[in-house]
Amino acid sequence: MSYQSTFQRWNGTESYIADDGLIAAVNVAVALQRPLLVKGEPGTGKTLLAHAIADGLGLPLHTWHVKSTTRAQDGCWVYDAVARLQDSRFGDRDVRDVSQYIKLGPLGEAFSSEKRAVLLIDEIDKADIEFPNDLLHELDAMRFVITETGEEISAKHRPVVIISSNAEKELPDAFLRRCVFHYINFPNEDRLTQICRVHHPDVDDKLLAAALRRFMALRSVKHLRKKPTTSELVDWISGLRLAGIDPEKLSAALPFAGVLLKDESDAAKAKKAGAMESDDDSDDSDGNKGGSGTGWRGWR
Ligand SMILES: Nc1ncnc2c1ncn2[C@@H]1O[C@H](COP(=O)(O)OP(=O)(O)OP(=O)(O)O)[C@@H](O)[C@H]1O
Ligand SMILES: [Mg+2]
Repeated sequence: MSYQSTFQRWNGTESYIADDGLIAAVNVAVALQRPLLVKGEPGTGKTLLAHAIADGLGLPLHTWHVKSTTRAQDGCWVYDAVARLQDSRFGDRDVRDVSQYIKLGPLGEAFSSEKRAVLLIDEIDKADIEFPNDLLHELDAMRFVITETGEEISAKHRPVVIISSNAEKELPDAFLRRCVFHYINFPNEDRLTQICRVHHPDVDDKLLAAALRRFMALRSVKHLRKKPTTSELVDWISGLRLAGIDPEKLSAALPFAGVLLKDESDAAKAKKAGAMESDDDSDDSDGNKGGSGTGWRGWR
């Protein structure tokens, strides 16, 4: 008997650039029906991955944005006790029926979806250290009971669970044991080019090459507090295009540096390392001094 199972394979999408390692990790997680835990620097496409998987597999997506105050139960259901109290005092509703004050959270929605769904648990490391442990049971059993009503919600189809983390906190071993893990490496120049082309299909080749050169030089500056990310590069290229920046002049100046660098000490380090012109070095097209450079003076 063949051990190979048939399951719907994900092969990336036109708008999401995935390498072979990531595609394999997604498919093994789907085949094993295990959550896929993705880590990586900010802006490496962790959140977008869940959207791309839902797109590629043609499944609905439910997103659970985790915050520092999020509890595991919030993803299952929320009981609006305040609305019930208000109705009992001022409203004309029959408040004995508690179920009207229960709202399913994203996990509950994904479990009760008629169609198999993708569930993104985004930025799991933002929550309390107990949060992943509290989720273990629901993710294993694929069911939970709403305490207020006694109703059991069990998954009609096991959702494809994608969990993102920026590694702000370590996750418990028991939780890791149940996941497939993939680290999204920061893209190399070729992959960055592909990603930029997805977002700017008709960008001028020279502008793209010049922008990437400047971006890579900035990222290689040592000890930056916050390196510029892929999404900032995509935004920066939008700015360069909107302002009609001449690619030739990008070698002499770094317009809209604030789209890439978000810390004054990083700008100072970049200047010291020669990855960014000091304010006195760059001229604009009219010969004006002052770091404005290649014709974006009109954008002041
Ligand atoms: N592989 C990719 N294919 C296409 N676009 C990408 C890819 N990776 C990153 N991007 C671009 O970068 C942006 C940021 O991606 P996303 O928000 O998914 O990153 P993230 O890893 O979740 O970041 P954060 O940790 O800050 O939440 C996307 O909106 C997209 O423009
Ligand atoms: Mg994200």
